[in-house]
Amino acid sequence: MRRKDTTNRLPNGLFLTAALAAILPLVYGSIERPSLLPTPPMGFNNWARFMCDLNETLFTETADAMASNGLRDAGYNRINLDDCWMADQRADNGSLQWNTTKFPHGLPWLGNYLKTKGFYFGIYEDAGNLTCGGYPGSYHHEELDANTFASWGVDYVKVDGCNVYAMHGRTLEEEYKHRYGHWNVVLDRMEHPLIFSESAPAYFAGTENRTDWYTVMDWVPVCGELARHSTDILVYSGAGSAWDSIMNNYHYNTLLARYQAPGYFNDPDFLIPDHPGLTADEKRSHFALWASFSAPLIISAYIPALSKDDMAYLSNKALITVDQDELAQQATLASRDDTLDILTRSLANGDRLLTVLNRGNTTVKTDVPIEWLGLTRTGCTYTADDLWDGSVQKVSSHIAVQLATHATVVYRISLPKACSAVVPTGLVFNTASGHCLTASSSSVTFQSCSGQTSQIWQVTSSGTICPLSSTGQCLAADGDAVKLQACDKSGSDAQKWTYAVTGNLKNVNTGGCLTEGPVQLKTCGDERNSQVFGLPSGVQLSSGA
Ligand SMILES: *[C@@H]1O[C@H](CO)[C@@H](O)[C@H](O)[C@H]1NC(C)=O
Ligand SMILES: *[C@@H]1O[C@H](CO)[C@@H](O)[C@H](O)[C@H]1NC(C)=O
Ligand SMILES: *[C@@H]1O[C@H](CO)[C@@H](O)[C@H](O)[C@H]1NC(C)=O
Ligand SMILES: *[C@@H]1O[C@H](CO)[C@@H](O)[C@H](O)[C@H]1NC(C)=O
Ligand SMILES: *[C@@H]1O[C@H](CO)[C@@H](O)[C@H](O)[C@H]1NC(C)=O
Ligand SMILES: *[C@@H]1O[C@H](CO)[C@@H](O)[C@H](O)[C@H]1NC(C)=O
Repeated sequence: MRRKDTTNRLPNGLFLTAALAAILPLVYGSIERPSLLPTPPMGFNNWARFMCDLNETLFTETADAMASNGLRDAGYNRINLDDCWMADQRADNGSLQWNTTKFPHGLPWLGNYLKTKGFYFGIYEDAGNLTCGGYPGSYHHEELDANTFASWGVDYVKVDGCNVYAMHGRTLEEEYKHRYGHWNVVLDRMEHPLIFSESAPAYFAGTENRTDWYTVMDWVPVCGELARHSTDILVYSGAGSAWDSIMNNYHYNTLLARYQAPGYFNDPDFLIPDHPGLTADEKRSHFALWASFSAPLIISAYIPALSKDDMAYLSNKALITVDQDELAQQATLASRDDTLDILTRSLANGDRLLTVLNRGNTTVKTDVPIEWLGLTRTGCTYTADDLWDGSVQKVSSHIAVQLATHATVVYRISLPKACSAVVPTGLVFNTASGHCLTASSSSVTFQSCSGQTSQIWQVTSSGTICPLSSTGQCLAADGDAVKLQACDKSGSDAQKWTYAVTGNLKNVNTGGCLTEGPVQLKTCGDERNSQVFGLPSGVQLSSGA
């Protein structure tokens, strides 16, 4: 059973916002109950590779292949059906039924087959009255359908968001919250709640005004275990660039790091290793970036025919270990310019991760200073393990990186005991405009992210935000103005900031929120474009909006 308890306090410093608590007073989602899915799911889904061309043979063949080629034992232990598995109509008694041509032995048989092969069984439905493919949706049948799935041996349901409309005086966002919130209540009542993958945020991504998207993101971690937050990854037969599609979903994931914690995972969609439009470096980058995020690793490919090279990177133990790290921290941007993204995070044993992506079209060389990784002690020597080739080097001032176009390198850096202090370090950026908070001599501005040290900030546990480029200066409120001032050792509130899951950065002294435009403090709004920021991983979240 989902844990029942009456407090609104969540683990990891997260709190339900007052607004959310009012709407979901008895609902306990995943972030409060991480035991249902403590680390991100790994497995197979048919959609991006086969779309509606699915059948029993595809799933039994896939399971057989994954059991014998090592993928199951590497951790890919889920087989998930996507849309189009159903018959056109519900049965006379209202139950969903499978298409008997596609699944001649039936789904309970398939579930049992998968179980004997060592896999969990996942399925697809929709919060509207029809699925995206036009099959019966679950609206008004949520409880019946959840129980039907459980009776078939299913333990995971992805609930899509096609055919949901604003109604009953609710806005569209409120209608999604109502329906996904109801799903959570239904799952909550089950003896063995199904893992709940929510597609709701994807229906609000990509709009100019991000408020609704942010608002949906506020409630999905409380309702379920993972959420598809942006567009579908390009399907096998789709027109366009698979790499651009990966970069698009990668980009959206970088905007949402604050939401992820053990038990809830941001889902940037499937790995597509046999997509014909990808180079070897692009596929490996896709996998390395998703692992750095601790994102779901769900492969959509024809697994029996995967190449040796694809099998090798998908089975990379060191990267899977990072993906499945129990802290579930999402790597965040330490630096970004036109071509290079430098990301960092912590791992449960205290190690730091460094991930560098070359988004550009030519080979790039760079030195990443150790301070950019949040390592502040001087005179330390660290051990950096290249997770692609296992090579190990000692580093003390910087890590030298050379990257081919669209390639990604990942280092796992272990810290000697005396050098284990980590301060969350990286960009403070507006997640709507993409602009980076930039320090100059005494003022701050928002500018295009340029890879300069003046855009890298240390966020301390006492709430100060200080630029790496000018030691001894701290971000401070002066009325409605925001300045850099000499750091006040006695800890003035004007130099203290709180960061909420809403993405707002609030000054402790004035209560005003950092606002992009001309940089200033303004009344905190409801997740307006100008007031929602991404901060480095590891920053403690405060309560409420
Ligand atoms: C099952 O689906 C696969 C993948 O779309 C297809 O290649 C195969 O012909 C189908 N088999 C049957 C029996 O329909
Ligand atoms: C089952 O799927 C087949 C395509 O494989 C389709 O022709 C048929 O109409 C479907 N049957 C039902 C009952 O939906
Ligand atoms: C509905 O009928 C199907 C058989 O058509 C049966 O398997 C299922 O258990 C029934 N559902 C309920 C809720 O009685
Ligand atoms: C689905 O819901 C919409 C909006 O309420 C309604 O107009 C439509 O008739 C419904 N369709 C079905 C098949 O129930
Ligand atoms: C953005 O959307 C929200 C929610 O729909 C709305 O309240 C707000 O007024 C919009 N802001 C702008 C600038 O249009
Ligand atoms: C790389 O090349 C593509 C297509 O040739 C182009 O659209 C893109 O802007 C280039 N990227 C950079 C960072 O120069």
